[in-house]
Amino acid sequence: DNVDLEKCFEVVSNLVSEAGRLIARNNETRQEFVTKSNDIDLVTQTDKDVEQLLMDGIRRHFPDHKFIGEEESSGEEGVKKLTNDPTWIIDPVDGTMNFVHAFPHSCISVGLKVNKVTELGLVYNPILEQRFTARRGHGAFYNGRRIRVSDQQELSKALITSEFGTTRDEAKMKVVNENFEKMAKRAHGLRVLGSAALNMSMVALGAADANYEFGIHAWDVCAGDLIVREAGGVVIDPAGGDFDIMSRRVLAAATPQLAQEITKVLTQFYPLPRDD
Ligand code: IPD
Repeated sequence: DNVDLEKCFEVVSNLVSEAGRLIARNNETRQEFVTKSNDIDLVTQTDKDVEQLLMDGIRRHFPDHKFIGEEESSGEEGVKKLTNDPTWIIDPVDGTMNFVHAFPHSCISVGLKVNKVTELGLVYNPILEQRFTARRGHGAFYNGRRIRVSDQQELSKALITSEFGTTRDEAKMKVVNENFEKMAKRAHGLRVLGSAALNMSMVALGAADANYEFGIHAWDVCAGDLIVREAGGVVIDPAGGDFDIMSRRVLAAATPQLAQEITKVLTQFYPLPRDD
């Protein structure tokens, strides 16, 4: 089962451009939404439409490929199991809260895994026309231009990104606040863009030096993980082990030294349930 990755990349690039027009147009006004797991976990009709558009478009070319999509995963079946089959991991609108408010930091995030290895990743903010792409072994790109992470090794000089997340769970919020306070004391600066995929893309671009978050899902970070690594960065578990895409934990950094320093500073949190 040879997968034509060139073709996969071309097909998904075109679909993402098409779906992006929908997001950009709808971002001109604030959006109606419904809540999912709680009152700050949101979904709009555009999330559903974009996911459908991408899945239908991919299926037309690759009828055997599997999907793990954010919106279909919130149905009764939950998150589908990741197998060795070519599997597209899709967040149709990452930064839905931003999108609902017409705050222009939302993106489509798509990764393709084959034999559980991420082969390509795209993060596209169609409102600001920011397109981050990577193919395994071929580098990372921002609007077609090759990008590299910064060489920052010290937390005291690093610009960090993270998120409040999409839950008001007390235990989780306590850890988020504790870590924000630690970063405010030790890092150069802390930024919260409102999209996990865009945060990671900023690390790849060399604009931010590291990003960590507890509570992300596979679709938030599948593409970002590859884009950061292809830009020369590292992606690990926030406690220092290997990155596990289903663990709902991520730490991306420009250098291993910076990553290690952050693992020592962070208060750890293990969100449940996992994605698998
Ligand atoms: C969320 C956003 C948010 C992050 C959450 C994600 P969604 O994705 O990236 O910034 O804090 O962990 O789940 O729900 O907007 O696709």
